[in-house]
Amino acid sequence: MRQGKIFLLLLFGCLLAPAGFCGTNQGSSSDSILYSSFFPGETWYDTDSVHINAHGGGILVTQGIFYWFGEHKTAGYGGNTAQVGIRCYSSNDLYNWKNEGVALASVDDPDSEIVRGCVMERPKVIYNQKTGKFVMWFHLELKGQGYSAARTAVAVSDQVTGPYRYIRSFRVNPERWPMDFTEEMKNATDDPNLKSWTPEWVEAVNDGMFVRRDFKCGQMARDMTLFVDDDGKAYHIHASEENLTLHVAELTEDYLDFTGKWIRVMPGGHNEAPAIFKRNGLYYMITSGCTGWRPNAARSAVSGSIWGPWEPLGNPCRGEHAELTFFAQSTFVLQVPGMKNAYIFMADRWRPRNPIDGRYVWLPITFEEEKPVIRWMDEWDLDVFKK
Ligand code: DGJ
Repeated sequence: MRQGKIFLLLLFGCLLAPAGFCGTNQGSSSDSILYSSFFPGETWYDTDSVHINAHGGGILVTQGIFYWFGEHKTAGYGGNTAQVGIRCYSSNDLYNWKNEGVALASVDDPDSEIVRGCVMERPKVIYNQKTGKFVMWFHLELKGQGYSAARTAVAVSDQVTGPYRYIRSFRVNPERWPMDFTEEMKNATDDPNLKSWTPEWVEAVNDGMFVRRDFKCGQMARDMTLFVDDDGKAYHIHASEENLTLHVAELTEDYLDFTGKWIRVMPGGHNEAPAIFKRNGLYYMITSGCTGWRPNAARSAVSGSIWGPWEPLGNPCRGEHAELTFFAQSTFVLQVPGMKNAYIFMADRWRPRNPIDGRYVWLPITFEEEKPVIRWMDEWDLDVFKK
């Protein structure tokens, strides 16, 4: 029973008031909610009783504390642009989150790439053992240019909560071919007049037409995530080639740049919103299709190596609204430390007309015949992983 699981401290009125009294999202109150379970799709209050503002996010675990980084969205039109920046929350139980402030702020300087009004999406933070630094990457779109810049950007901090120092943005791996590109692919000539979505165009895309187009200036990078492997190597996974093909690109030892080693994943597959995790030596990826802010069916894939080949496994969601990922879009998969076989699928329910009201859908991943499976639950807690 929902109310039985939430303990409201200093509370008078919230339970009696119609839903929304405590859930205006932007307002805060002195009432504090203590959660002991997840409520996918519901307004999720932080320890100040404000709806958590960390969309398209990811989680870093360090020294036994969870840190959730995500896009701070604002209300109404323009709320998907970076008016504030990247926000950070901390938690020691994954249910209750304390606002740690803005980890990387968008700025007033019109000459900065992260000027207020640019787009800063899907931030992910990883810790570099060798340098002792926390490294943040995110999808950057330059102010006033829609989604055409298609860049990824990096920032760094000595403290996990920031403030992060913005370093630079990239088009990825200019003048570097993917590892599996043949000489024939490198030297192919493309017809610039090919009509989009004709069989010839699709074939040319699959054969690397956009890789060739962007070879000199670097590959596009939109929706992205990071993955650190057991050997400490880190990878940047991003939607590239006009969102038609995912790329996996290795990061340098300090995690601040690319090594030039990269592959294409599922060419022409039209995947975005990548989330990646490892289980029993296999790499799994959950992605979405590309329909803007509207939900679509999730996809999954598996590989014995980060470098592929990636084998598509189909939609991991089951049950009612599985074909729309329960109205959400993947952002991250958290492997819960200290628990066996505990993986949490994290996704966003976008609200493009009022982005600040976007919701979080966190669901447990189970495995059937070694394939990830996600089922809807109105309420759940970490005990599901003990069963
Ligand atoms: C879907 C992406 O997954 C989001 O992060 C965002 O870029 C929207 N598209 C923009 O339409």
